Amino acid sequence: MIAFTRHCPAPTESRYVSEALGSGHTEGDGPFTRRAVQLLSELTAGSHVLLTPSGTHALELAALALGVGPDDEVVMPSYTFSSTANAFALRGARLRWADVDPRTFSMEAEQLEAAWTPDTTVVVTMPYGGVCKDIDRISRMCAARGVRLVEDAAHALFANVEGRPLGSFGVLSALSFHRSKNVSCGEGGALLVRDPALAVQAEILREKGTDRSRFLRGEVDKYTWQCAGSSWLLSDILAAVLTAQLEHTPETQRHRMSLWRRYAEVLEPEGARLGLTFQQPPPGNEHPAHLFAIRLPTHVDRARLLQRMASEQVRVASHYEPLHLSPFQARMRKGAAAPVLPETESLAPRLLRLPLHGGMSLEDADHAARALVRCIEAEALQR
Ligand SMILES: Cc1ncc(COP(=O)(O)O)c(C=O)c1O
Repeated sequence: MIAFTRHCPAPTESRYVSEALGSGHTEGDGPFTRRAVQLLSELTAGSHVLLTPSGTHALELAALALGVGPDDEVVMPSYTFSSTANAFALRGARLRWADVDPRTFSMEAEQLEAAWTPDTTVVVTMPYGGVCKDIDRISRMCAARGVRLVEDAAHALFANVEGRPLGSFGVLSALSFHRSKNVSCGEGGALLVRDPALAVQAEILREKGTDRSRFLRGEVDKYTWQCAGSSWLLSDILAAVLTAQLEHTPETQRHRMSLWRRYAEVLEPEGARLGLTFQQPPPGNEHPAHLFAIRLPTHVDRARLLQRMASEQVRVASHYEPLHLSPFQARMRKGAAAPVLPETESLAPRLLRLPLHGGMSLEDADHAARALVRCIEAEALQR
């Protein structure tokens, strides 16, 4: 069976973990954290990087560092993971939902224009699969209105637009190193900070509300409680895994890209005949081969297709359920009508992702793509 996703250890991973375990510094902000931070900063145009226990924690830290509260109105796409929204819902902010573009599957400038209001104080983007054609325009729109831009860049490490990395456009951005991501340490994340004042604030919040990081750097002779915070550090044992993975990225990214291209070579020529449409990274947007997403035609029963693919020994997956239609948001609306987001509501039940990970060979990708063609042909016969 071709797994949908898998953690693929980098060659130095076990050795680095043993070193971390033997180093006497297994807690956060040790030698491996410093190495991982340096590599991530280089990948994200010199961002200040704080490792966190997950992407979810990085988003929560972002909302807290921005001082988001009940007076804030936050706009984000509905087609995203609950963590994007939880960070702001937990702070009591009002959420407004944006639709997605039918080609990029991400919120672009047009969808933001339709969703935001004069009360909007924060915009959160989530470049689906690391694809967002208007990120530069969105950041300029936000700057012109004094609205803070946060990037949920969980899919977007290694993606760039006109040479600039995604994750470097927002005042704050979140990365995820969950098992399912291109770089994984099981569970992990990072907050990327562009503004030096926010970097100071986020560093304190992440260290239980203290200036312990300054103390550890020898900048103060004792550390004290500065504000309400929490513990959002990644253990140096996991940072050792992360470092090994980051050092191995040229090879893993090359391999992921070749799997992605194989899917495109087999499936795109069949698109018109089978009624498939593909996520289209626009020119100038280098995607990170994080996922291969297809929009199925309406006659295909996706649940049955998943079963057909399993019988071809391939695990495929759907993706997000729209947040604006979630049970939680229905309760929050207290009987008011849900916003109508036509593209999100049409995309969500039809989106299919193919397996894409370092444990796959090109033959596996070939098999998965050809199996998909056969299964969709079988679906068409069933009509
Ligand atoms: C878009 C998006 N944001 C945030 C997260 C949360 O990341 P994590 O699983 O590291 O908490 C995920 C999940 O993987 C995600 O897909």
